[in-house]
Amino acid sequence: MSILEHHTTTSPYGTHRLAGELLKSLKMPVVLALSGDLGTGKTCFIQGLAIALGVDDAVTSPTYTLVQEYDSEPPLYHIDLYRIHSNQEALYLGLDEYLEGEGITAIEWADRITDLLPKNTVHITLKSGATVNERKITIQRSTPNPEADEA
Ligand SMILES: Nc1ncnc2c1ncn2[C@@H]1O[C@H](COP(=O)(O)OP(=O)(O)OP(=O)(O)O)[C@@H](O)[C@H]1O
Ligand SMILES: [Mg+2]
Repeated sequence: MSILEHHTTTSPYGTHRLAGELLKSLKMPVVLALSGDLGTGKTCFIQGLAIALGVDDAVTSPTYTLVQEYDSEPPLYHIDLYRIHSNQEALYLGLDEYLEGEGITAIEWADRITDLLPKNTVHITLKSGATVNERKITIQRSTPNPEADEA
């Protein structure tokens, strides 16, 4: 079963907060697949995860490395596939290790490797909204919220 949530944020801080809320409901290990046009807030969302995990370093897109690893608990792996254009290229670079690893793997431009993503991947899609700071963010996941199970 798949659950689809629609959110609207009106500032980078709002997107950080949404990421922090999502984090609370995640069952580890997990892959977060972020898609959306340039500048829609994929990196901003991952910054929100890092902040919620207590990571001190500023999160920027991993420009020179494919993967940026944050030593949080659980660990956060930030992957940016902007320069990757095929599944083969991603596999050649060893990306599959992060798709079945521990912790949280958050992937920008994840739509480039759709076929490689695990079944329980959480899909996050970002779109610009009606105003300059508005973002429409959908979160789609394949299983119910684990908190709901515990209730
Ligand atoms: N509601 C919002 N949520 C997220 N970012 C916002 C919002 N409003 C304004 N912004 C601004 O939009 C920009 C988003 O940039 P960010 O680098 O996160 O996008 P991106 O999707 O990772 O882009 P790229 O495709 O280049 O990697 C930032 O400058 C941020 O301050
Ligand atoms: Mg980015």
